[in-house]
Amino acid sequence: MADLHLVVDRAAGGLAAQIAREVREAVRSGRLAPGDRLPASRDLARDLGLSRGVVVEAYEQLVAEGVLRSRTGAGTRVAAGAGRHAAEPDPENRDGRSRYGYRPTSPDLGAFPRQAWLAAVRHVLATLPNDALDYGDPGGVPALRRELAAYLGRVRAADAHADQIVIVTGVAQGLSLAVQALARELGRRVVLAVEDPTTTRQLPLLRRAGADIVPVPVDGEGIVVGALPGDADAVLVTPAHQYPTGVVLSPARRAALVDWAGRAGALVIEDDYDAEFRFDRDPVGCLQGLAPDRVMLAGSVSKALAPGLRLGWVAAPPGVARAVRLARGELDLGSPVIDQYALAHLIGSGAYDRHLRRMRREYRRRRDALVRALAEHLPRVTVHGISAGLHLYAEPGGDPSGLVAAAHAAGLSAEVVTPALAPGGRPAGLVIGFARLPAHRVTEAVRALAAAGGAVSGDHEPS
Ligand SMILES: Cc1ncc(COP(=O)(O)O)c(C=O)c1O
Repeated sequence: MADLHLVVDRAAGGLAAQIAREVREAVRSGRLAPGDRLPASRDLARDLGLSRGVVVEAYEQLVAEGVLRSRTGAGTRVAAGAGRHAAEPDPENRDGRSRYGYRPTSPDLGAFPRQAWLAAVRHVLATLPNDALDYGDPGGVPALRRELAAYLGRVRAADAHADQIVIVTGVAQGLSLAVQALARELGRRVVLAVEDPTTTRQLPLLRRAGADIVPVPVDGEGIVVGALPGDADAVLVTPAHQYPTGVVLSPARRAALVDWAGRAGALVIEDDYDAEFRFDRDPVGCLQGLAPDRVMLAGSVSKALAPGLRLGWVAAPPGVARAVRLARGELDLGSPVIDQYALAHLIGSGAYDRHLRRMRREYRRRRDALVRALAEHLPRVTVHGISAGLHLYAEPGGDPSGLVAAAHAAGLSAEVVTPALAPGGRPAGLVIGFARLPAHRVTEAVRALAAAGGAVSGDHEPS
């Protein structure tokens, strides 16, 4: 029940109108939100030292205006459409979809292992000593750093001791802290080479952290190492599954990149954002394992579990790890400890691996269905990057922007990618996510996309 601060001038008269005006103003300013329950008229009258009839009259007036609604048993509440936010659409919410929640690279949130997470949190709360709930190491709780060192070694062929691991809120924060730490060490802004095309969402974050961005093209083998600028302090790459094209960095390019970093004295920042989901060939280890003194790996549970957990890690050369940990301490003293212990328990108990195995099978089914349906119904669309991850990259051979609305209408999550940094390079493409769409619904969705896409491009689906 909302506690209400109402100012009433008893000497001025018109008490019901005064109360109504005060409540109206509280709703308009957002102090009272839709759904908030108002005090019972008897209680408010007692608080204000007035007769109950005055408050009842004020409430009735507001119900008549549509500001409040009153239902027997549910009391009097602020009406759903009332208030500050009523007239302003939520900028993050278009057509009822969350702009963030429907990213094509998001996992199937319906598959979040709620029972396993609940069991892990329950275990943590039952066993954690009180002292562990204090401010901890800003670099993360040791139990999680140990589990991650072992896990990353086993699954990603990484080469990092627990001391080289720093817990962060996700890849995004790992990148941000690494750039900040580098800029501090250099005493100037960081020259950061970035793949082109790339995820444009990260660019503002990188610039704010202190990076000047230099775009470097990507071809069928990944980043073109020969095009890296000689004065780069660091290079940001997605070797396991280039975002957005889906190219896997070739063995020759891996060797060349590590070699370049050694000669340039540069740090390679490896964004390992969706590497758990590799479907086709043999597993490809991370770059960090090849050159642990040159490469900082950044990963998170955003694809494996859920982006909303905001839980990730970096595995870095010892000096970089120390600087990132220091930067984290200076930023906000570290990540929530209960979640960290819960993830440590999930990994240590094997539940994390079991979940990944199950999801890998499911996502492969969805990917296969999408690739088949695209080949059948949109044969002119060229599909890339299907060996890993939760999205594929489609080049429709023309302007893809019309297809996005059609894809959304068909229930597919998609977005246009334009090589934003160096226009005139690769043609614009379309990232299509397949994590959320059950295999049995894919054909129907792609058929709808083909029908709408045909109308957009003047093309026609073969009947
Ligand atoms: C290229 C790339 N890197 C990293 C991430 C994940 O960032 P975070 O771990 O901060 O959630 C994403 C998310 O979609 C991404 O597309």
